[in-house]
Amino acid sequence: MTQPDANPLARTRADFPLLQRCIDGRPITHLDSASTAPKPRCVIDAVTGFYLEHTANVHRGVHVLSEESTELFERARQEVASFINAAPSEIVFTRNSTEGINLVASGLGLREDDEVIVTALEHHSNYMPWRVHAHAVPVGLLPDGVPRYEEIGGRLSPKTRLVALAQVSNTLGAIAPVAGWIAAAHAQGIPALVDASQSASHLPIDVRAMDCDFLVMSGHKLLGPSGIGVLYGKRERLEALAPYQVGGGMVKLHEEEHFVLQDVPWRFEAGTPNIEGAIGLGAAVSYLRNLGMEAVQRHSVKLGRRLVTRLRAIKGIEILADSVPDGQRIGLATFIVHAPGLGQENIARLLCDRHQILVSGGYHCAHMLHHRLKLEGTVRASTHVFNTEADIDRLAEALTEIVEV
Ligand code: ALA
Repeated sequence: MTQPDANPLARTRADFPLLQRCIDGRPITHLDSASTAPKPRCVIDAVTGFYLEHTANVHRGVHVLSEESTELFERARQEVASFINAAPSEIVFTRNSTEGINLVASGLGLREDDEVIVTALEHHSNYMPWRVHAHAVPVGLLPDGVPRYEEIGGRLSPKTRLVALAQVSNTLGAIAPVAGWIAAAHAQGIPALVDASQSASHLPIDVRAMDCDFLVMSGHKLLGPSGIGVLYGKRERLEALAPYQVGGGMVKLHEEEHFVLQDVPWRFEAGTPNIEGAIGLGAAVSYLRNLGMEAVQRHSVKLGRRLVTRLRAIKGIEILADSVPDGQRIGLATFIVHAPGLGQENIARLLCDRHQILVSGGYHCAHMLHHRLKLEGTVRASTHVFNTEADIDRLAEALTEIVEV
């Protein structure tokens, strides 16, 4: 009798056709999922299956293919809802996390002097909208980039309309103490938005237990297609938001004298939605649920530990957020490589050209963090379910070679 696999993620590599890619005849090592993740075969099949078998609009047609499309689209909403322990009516399909945050920023009816608490490490999508629609108030940073989360309570004021923070920073990889800051906000009657763009495919998420008012995710980082994302909102919070786009599909009735909005979530989905994207995202979250999000988290944290251990041992490398306690980092590390004559983007390019290792180089849409830390770019290695410790060892060996030249 075969024993159950101790690590359900051990054989996931074969599920990702992209990982067969070679550059210059040599296989790639993919360490760039924080930018956008490769897709498992089941997601590719779900999207092509929709094109081949259904391709019809949703909530509009009366023929069989349209009914099938609507059923697949709404089933995807249910899958996403189950993935984060929400109700389907609380799941709005958006283009990405950025659109979800913009929808909230626009729909809350913020005024210029209203305040939204953020951290300086938020990626642009969770900073720019608050800056443009209200006044973004960042909490301070420790010298290695970790936010001073304990400051949040002191920053709340009668002007605060929202606390909006990343559960895991796309640049630091540190797991933030969300429960504490949501409780601090709620104690003063202030709602909280969680940016789960980076966390959702590494940690189990339960919006009920977390008690967040809003949460956003992007499909492309979650092993799903690009151009599809999710805004979760507590039902009463969604009902109080003004739609930020209007058009077909979001009204029940439209006559000379008046119009009647659809119920939530459809009132926020004006126009023909990204149907195949939603179906692909449904397949992606089902794939992750089948692996088990606790197992996914263990794997990610193990790789995060390996990353910092190997990188710390290389002279000439400085890791951001090195003070993050053991076990509080997903499989992601951002670092500065001190190599004469080479900028951080050059290092990332060298890793690709000489070693076929794919990482990010630059600012990772987090200019504010780099500006505060006076950094001209960084290198970021990020893992997903298919990565192994051998991938990280390959990166460490390549970096050692680069800094020793
Ligand atoms: N926000 C994405 C990144 O972290 C694009 O690279």
